[in-house]
Amino acid sequence: MKPIKAGLLGIGTVGAGTFQVLRRNQEEIRRRAGRGIEVSMVAARNLERARDIVLDAGAAGQCEVVNDPFAVVDNPDIDIVVELIGGYDLARELVLRAIANGKHVVTANKALLAQHGNEIFAAAQEKGVMVAFEAAVAGGIPIIKALREGLAANRIESVAGIINGTTNFILSEMRDKGLDFATVLKQAQELGYAEADPTFDIEGVDAAHKLTIMAAIAFGIPMQFGGAHVEGISRLQAVDIRYAEELGYRIKLLGITRRSSVDGGEGIELRVHPTLIPAARLIANVEGAMNAVLVKADAVGTTLYYGKGAGAEPTASSVIADLVDVTRSATVDPYSRVPHLAFHPSELADLPI
Ligand code: HSE
Repeated sequence: MKPIKAGLLGIGTVGAGTFQVLRRNQEEIRRRAGRGIEVSMVAARNLERARDIVLDAGAAGQCEVVNDPFAVVDNPDIDIVVELIGGYDLARELVLRAIANGKHVVTANKALLAQHGNEIFAAAQEKGVMVAFEAAVAGGIPIIKALREGLAANRIESVAGIINGTTNFILSEMRDKGLDFATVLKQAQELGYAEADPTFDIEGVDAAHKLTIMAAIAFGIPMQFGGAHVEGISRLQAVDIRYAEELGYRIKLLGITRRSSVDGGEGIELRVHPTLIPAARLIANVEGAMNAVLVKADAVGTTLYYGKGAGAEPTASSVIADLVDVTRSATVDPYSRVPHLAFHPSELADLPI
């Protein structure tokens, strides 16, 4: 079967990671998806850098690099548009146009979904295309699939966790190395953890975007970012971290959403704020850019998901998982709808055990 064709909008840290992982694990990914996944077009602001990445990934010749992102979403040969440019307005316009053109969309853009997800999902529903967004929450942790598929039997009570790598990295480094806020933030930017506008990280907005998306899945509600209480870490000082330590606590920026009573009826709480956590708790020991999400649900009890919440390859891992999912579902093949095994049935290897 011919490879499915993907077009990338943006090729920064995550785009480059996506190319690397697609190339390195090409065979595994093809066997899982049941057909090849080829990035045949990339829209980038910096054409030279994009061409270098494509060349590095051995995709030169099969991947066209262009300046205009609309050339990708309007290209009839592209089956899946991967939106990695971030931000609200242009991303919204491109994603809606891709959907109107009948393309499936994979996005890592939590800001876009938290603000415009309701409109985007309604458009996708009407057009009969898929919008996949595993990479939008908690980087490489497959938390969207866990909440949506893995816990589908449960009534979920609460979801709480460390869902911003930058702030967790800052808090960890300030505590362990006594470094000041500005120095560590700069390191987080250099490591590719921070958003283009790092105030989104340090003021808790990025965590609130991710929390909004998780709440929508966990509780079956529309995206309601505007209802979240949002407080970041910018007012924390080294002395707060030291005092917390002396008292046996760690300070973590938590995103918490749970069922609660609102105006006497059933409602949902959505909040992001620095939280004192007893040092012995597992979640208090999540360090650096790692993320952890704790889900309480009625049938399974408590489950904890831990992993890298930011960075090129962890985020690419989730982008590609979505590409595989969308490829399976977009391919007319009864085995592709709900895979029995991780690999496509025609691709099981006869390896000695
Ligand atoms: N800026 C985000 C973070 C990137 O630090 O977690 C991953 O979403």
